[in-house]
Amino acid sequence: MRIERRREARANASRRKRYAMVALIAAFVLWAHLASGVRVFRSEVTPEPGWDKFRVDYGIGHFGEDGQFVRAVQNGYNLVYHTRKYAPRFTRDTAGKRPDSCAACHTVEDIAYGFVNSDRVDPKLGRRVSFEDRVRWCYAGPMGGFVPTTYDPVVRDIRLLARAVAHHLQLSEGALRSKD
Ligand code: HEC
Repeated sequence: MRIERRREARANASRRKRYAMVALIAAFVLWAHLASGVRVFRSEVTPEPGWDKFRVDYGIGHFGEDGQFVRAVQNGYNLVYHTRKYAPRFTRDTAGKRPDSCAACHTVEDIAYGFVNSDRVDPKLGRRVSFEDRVRWCYAGPMGGFVPTTYDPVVRDIRLLARAVAHHLQLSEGALRSKD
């Protein structure tokens, strides 16, 4: 009898422990998603001023209301207009007079033209240069920062932004800006 009661008590204790663990995990998930405000826990992109207008001007809605691609394009927008804030690992705070965004030197349309003219042989270098390489060089050179890897989202999402804008402008491969 005594043994049975002890066994039952032990089973109850382990059940309680299990419920406590499940409740703890659920509480963490709810906190992370709803309350924490910590960026790494959120899949949506922080809206920066001008995004709504940009979205309309460049027909980003063509790619859907929301979704991975649209969010990547929005992150690309943040990267181009607020580079130092969104790519802190590859830019320098202390760089004094250095421009703090790609937009200080390029319009997004320039970047879209750059995209449709990328992957060409650069006669000066005698080799093909990808869009990603151009962007990486600008992080290091004109921005005075550091070189991200080709696959870093700070490069990838600028490519997706350029693609979306090039699509809106209906730029074909190799299209050049008319000189008017
Ligand atoms: C201080 C000005 C400056 C900043 C800031 C800058 N760039 Fe550039 N970028 C240049 C210059 C100058 C060239 C042309 C280099 C060449 O042709 O050798 C260039 C070239 C490019 C090209 C190649 C296509 C083209 O138009 O020649 C791309 C794409 C590009 N930059 C993207 C970016 C991105 C993305 C950022 C932000 C991460 C950025 N740039 C920041 C000055 C800048």
